[in-house]
Amino acid sequence: MVKQKIILDSDPGHDDAFAILLACYSDKLDLAGVSSCSGNQTIEKTSKNALNLVNYFNRSDIKVAKGSPRPIKREPRICAEIHGESGLDGFTFPKYKEEYNEKNATDFLVDIINNNKDIVMVTTGPMTNLGLAILKDRNILKNIKEIVFMGGSTKEGNVTPAAEFNILVDPEAADIVMNSGVPIRMLGLDVTRKVLVTDEVLNRARQIKTKGGELFVKLMEVFNKNQRDYFGLEAGPLHDPATIVAIINPDVFTWQDMNVKVDTSDTDETGRTICASKEPHNVKVAIEVNVEAYWQEIFKHLEKCI
Ligand code: RIB
Ligand code: CA
Repeated sequence: MVKQKIILDSDPGHDDAFAILLACYSDKLDLAGVSSCSGNQTIEKTSKNALNLVNYFNRSDIKVAKGSPRPIKREPRICAEIHGESGLDGFTFPKYKEEYNEKNATDFLVDIINNNKDIVMVTTGPMTNLGLAILKDRNILKNIKEIVFMGGSTKEGNVTPAAEFNILVDPEAADIVMNSGVPIRMLGLDVTRKVLVTDEVLNRARQIKTKGGELFVKLMEVFNKNQRDYFGLEAGPLHDPATIVAIINPDVFTWQDMNVKVDTSDTDETGRTICASKEPHNVKVAIEVNVEAYWQEIFKHLEKCI
């Protein structure tokens, strides 16, 4: 079976951590690179977290490319209330060698995409780095088979009534992506808010006696507490691995072709993903999820992380 080559741009981030785990351990994927973006925490912290995670997942061959410290136009914003001061509160990693990619994320993405036809670009944070790479060299678009991103919503947001965090942090970058002409799949709050790390899910994960299971339980206990304290949610939504599940097992989701635009105004509507069924369709949006099948994919890969 030919593995699908992917690159992952991420702001770990408790949920991002398990998108990276699935990307590392799926036998359907060839994870060709990881870049960090500013989002859940500052770029320094998300970069360190990404480095710790790829090493913990036995992929020290991956040299994390550090992303932009700020969005394309707007001021940075972080989400320490959910992800903590480190961005991955709840787990202490072994001391790994702090060796990053010599290229920054923009140059890294331009280089790796120009040198790999039919690559899939996955983003699980604000899309700043991808937006900057497209601005730097629009030719990369011909080599991108598909962009799969976590972000947006067909209805309400999670930071403002209009906007989901990843889009709100950098709506200009998201706008560049939506208008790229590349096939896009969107995993938004419509589905990710249905995959909650409930006590039942946590108890099932506690039966997984691998280092992946241990990491999941320790990080999710903190993630859930913060989600309850800050958002009043029953449990934390495991947003970001939905991007990887969408690639390795797309039938877990129900998809609808839509026309998606991004509100880049400076109003209460900033960052809304305006989703309509009208033509032209530019994005396949996940509108439903088979929750049990989703957790089966998560648990299967936690088992493989030994
Ligand atoms: O709104 C949820 C998204 O914002 C997830 O990607 C989470 O990690 C944060 O980045
Ligand atoms: Ca994220």
